[in-house]
Amino acid sequence: MTIEDAVVYGKKFISSTETKMLISNVTGFDALEIINYLHYELTEKQEDLFKKLVEARRSNIPVQYLTHSVNFYGIDLYVNESVLIPRFETEELVENTLQILNRDFVNPSVLDLCCGSGAIGITIKTKLGNSDVEMSDISSKALEVAKINKDTYNLNINIIESDLFQNITKKYDCIISNPPYIKEDEEIEDIVKNNEPHLALYAGKDGLLYYERILKDIKNYLNDKFLIAFEIGAYEKEDIISIANKYLENVEITCKKDLSGRDRMLFIERK
Ligand SMILES: C[S@@+](CC[C@H](N)C(=O)[O-])C[C@H]1O[C@@H](n2cnc3c(N)ncnc32)[C@H](O)[C@@H]1O
Repeated sequence: MTIEDAVVYGKKFISSTETKMLISNVTGFDALEIINYLHYELTEKQEDLFKKLVEARRSNIPVQYLTHSVNFYGIDLYVNESVLIPRFETEELVENTLQILNRDFVNPSVLDLCCGSGAIGITIKTKLGNSDVEMSDISSKALEVAKINKDTYNLNINIIESDLFQNITKKYDCIISNPPYIKEDEEIEDIVKNNEPHLALYAGKDGLLYYERILKDIKNYLNDKFLIAFEIGAYEKEDIISIANKYLENVEITCKKDLSGRDRMLFIERK
């Protein structure tokens, strides 16, 4: 089977993009190389693996869990079933947070709370090399993934296993978090519900459980001047602003919309 045959075969069952991701995964070629080497003959082992991956993808397993990779903010990260697959919206959270950090802080210390694969903390550390960045999560399996990713890029990031702030001892200039925020009874896509860790998704009856728990204690872990950056569910803005006002004084709260125009990022700043 050549790469060209593999493209035709894959497209019978899955999308063209997914087909190319799987070909790239089994051959080690990037997207451009795949186009340039259409006549490359896959080895028997590569062909078997490719067909197995197509089969698995047909049974509705996310392609990123099959290839064990995702590109986040231009960085290739390892992922497996123990972590949420980092999303495009979260890249927007990182982008906006970096803008504020670069504008209002010098070498800010940053905690990525509920870090999962480490997507947020790792990206921030690569962009703000001199900043002290730490990442924490309750799941030891997720933290194994975060460690693989930070080691791949040889980054000096401290990793802490912790139920929210339980094992956190320092204070930070910025705490950034994409915590679980899906309501217990909310309808979500089967591919997400059946594959991604529920610990990373669900947040009680109203989806606000983690924001309440985080905001209740957060001031003990922040310096006088601080930035809190949250990813939020599209309809949670008003509720989270009320929770923030309940626990924090003298703060400026700004909500940003994602590229689809939904309220998906909340920034709470004390200047
Ligand atoms: C929505 S995922 C976000 C993962 C990653 N930050 C990202 O944006 O791709 C939420 C993460 O919160 C973690 N988590 C759930 N409950 C937690 C708790 N009580 N303390 C710390 N982390 C928790 C989960 O293990 C999961 O990795």
